Amino acid sequence: MPFRVETVQSAFPGRAILHFERVASTMIEATGLLPGAVVIADEQTSGRGRHGHSWHSEPESGLYVSMVLDAPLDPVLTLALGLATAEAIARETDLRCDLRWPNDVMIGEKKVAGILVQLAGANAIAGIGINVNHNSFPAELEREATSLSIAGGSRYSREVLLIALLRSVESYCAMLQKGGKQAILRQFTQVSSYVEGKRVRVASMEGVTAGLDESGFLRLRKIDGLIELILAGGVRPI
Ligand code: BTN
Repeated sequence: MPFRVETVQSAFPGRAILHFERVASTMIEATGLLPGAVVIADEQTSGRGRHGHSWHSEPESGLYVSMVLDAPLDPVLTLALGLATAEAIARETDLRCDLRWPNDVMIGEKKVAGILVQLAGANAIAGIGINVNHNSFPAELEREATSLSIAGGSRYSREVLLIALLRSVESYCAMLQKGGKQAILRQFTQVSSYVEGKRVRVASMEGVTAGLDESGFLRLRKIDGLIELILAGGVRPI
């Protein structure tokens, strides 16, 4: 079913909410728009993931959205967006998500949503992809991806989810603006099973996670006992 943008627009009357049936990527459409603008697409032909990966964007099954934020790029911002996504999912479904640092949203061992933050001029653009009503995934993603529908056994309204997501992103960004970095680091540490005491591999390193530093980077205690600061993702359990 095509996305009913009027439902979302009426919940946020003052906000520019642009809906497209098909775009290359909502990140491209959002570039140059003013803070507050939201771009949503039913389908992306070149959905972008982190580290140059693509984002599987099955038509009318997922939430593919980019928001222009009135916030600078900051590692804690990406953690806040993961918390906001997990909170929106919890509010509208019975599902509880884990967060794989820095911002993969997981159900069990499988990824249900991903976040890409890019800088465009003075503003950060948050790109959020949630697998909502997918029944299956291409063979190469099957082992690592899930959808709310597969995990929860029912279908979910993308409009209702987007409304919840916009509200939770607003509230986490406000928290950050008011100097709530520590609160976000604390919440992330509580919600994520990856932050402390998890045996993981990151690139060629192995170790046990040992918390976040004050900037939001992940501390890894290696086998030799030394602490390595992990600045970018690719964390996998072992
Ligand atoms: C990742 O986990 O690798 C990040 C995935 C981000 C996907 C979203 S979908 C909406 C927005 N448009 C894109 O092209 N990518 C992001």
